[in-house]
Amino acid sequence: MVKTHLSGIQPSGLLHLGNYFGAIRQHIALSEQDGEHFYFIADYHSLTSFRDAERLRELVRETAITYLACGLDPEKAVLWRQSDVPEVTEIQWLLSTVTGMGLLERAHSFKDKVANGVKPNVGLFTYPILMAADILAYDSDVVPVGKDQVQHVEMTQDIAGYFNRNYNTEVFKRPEMLLAKSESMQKVPGIDGQKMSKSYGNDIWIFEEGKKLKKLVGKIVTDSRPPEEPKDPSELFVFDLLALFLEADELADWKTKVEAGGVDAPGYGHLKMRLKDAIEEHFAEAREKRLELLANPKVVDDILAAGADKARARAREVRDRALHACGLR
Ligand code: ADP
Ligand code: TRP
Repeated sequence: MVKTHLSGIQPSGLLHLGNYFGAIRQHIALSEQDGEHFYFIADYHSLTSFRDAERLRELVRETAITYLACGLDPEKAVLWRQSDVPEVTEIQWLLSTVTGMGLLERAHSFKDKVANGVKPNVGLFTYPILMAADILAYDSDVVPVGKDQVQHVEMTQDIAGYFNRNYNTEVFKRPEMLLAKSESMQKVPGIDGQKMSKSYGNDIWIFEEGKKLKKLVGKIVTDSRPPEEPKDPSELFVFDLLALFLEADELADWKTKVEAGGVDAPGYGHLKMRLKDAIEEHFAEAREKRLELLANPKVVDDILAAGADKARARAREVRDRALHACGLR
């Protein structure tokens, strides 16, 4: 049986190292494997917190370009804009009528946002049902996500079950989740050592370069100990970031020197300089590809349009099945 993999990413900012190592890279690697691969840009979801129409249009394109520049092959994966498949909002309505308020009230991400002072709109509250519709609309088997989305996928499993049991049907397929393998990829730290996130303003855009990158990397939190003083590398965030880029041998070499201290030990400035170079090297090819795609918006629009056609055909079938099951057809 061919497995269908599906995931989405919100276009609410420039994609950072956390997004890349925690999500995008897995998505692209998976799409090189057997099965079907569906990836979309969750623009409906962004509206729960984003109100700049012109910027949203740019960010949707930028997000698509990032996937393509980082190596997503549109022959192997379907890439589209969520709002090009309005059937998901119809499915969302059907799902919302079988979902209890209690389930949504337990959502961590909603509670966290409210606790952080966000004035919630109804869309933010029902966000998990739209996400369930995204997943269920394509008969997805596997949903690769970061740790922060685990509860949303569990809610999707519950919501599919509520619908199927209410209507004594098998309309919606129960999806499984797939988490990034290593702990270090699940929680990439930002320049302040907290989880990197655009909402914390501690993120590094994957295509940042030159002076701006140097300045950002320079801000990574360290302390005032001199290079000669032996240190435990596991206490230094800069090593968590270096570990994402360096070969094991080189990383071990830097760690040994920091642990030993003395005249040969690198200072924080050296480590940061190495990180800056590593980021630039890692994304050099993708950066070129991004510029090419930016200069050819039609290529990107055509890929998104073809993706939307494929995705929509699938979502229509599932929507029709769901409408029939509850008596609307
Ligand atoms: P942000 O926190 O910047 O708003 P999102 O919530 O839009 O990022 O996350 C998009 C994807 O990137 C999700 O799959 C999420 O798990 C992943 N992700 C975000 N930040 C990190 C991080 N610091 N480390 C690992 N993965 C991350
Ligand atoms: N909520 C996800 C995030 O913020 C984005 C998303 C929307 C998604 N719909 C999805 C992820 C469906 C996986 C499957 O990262």
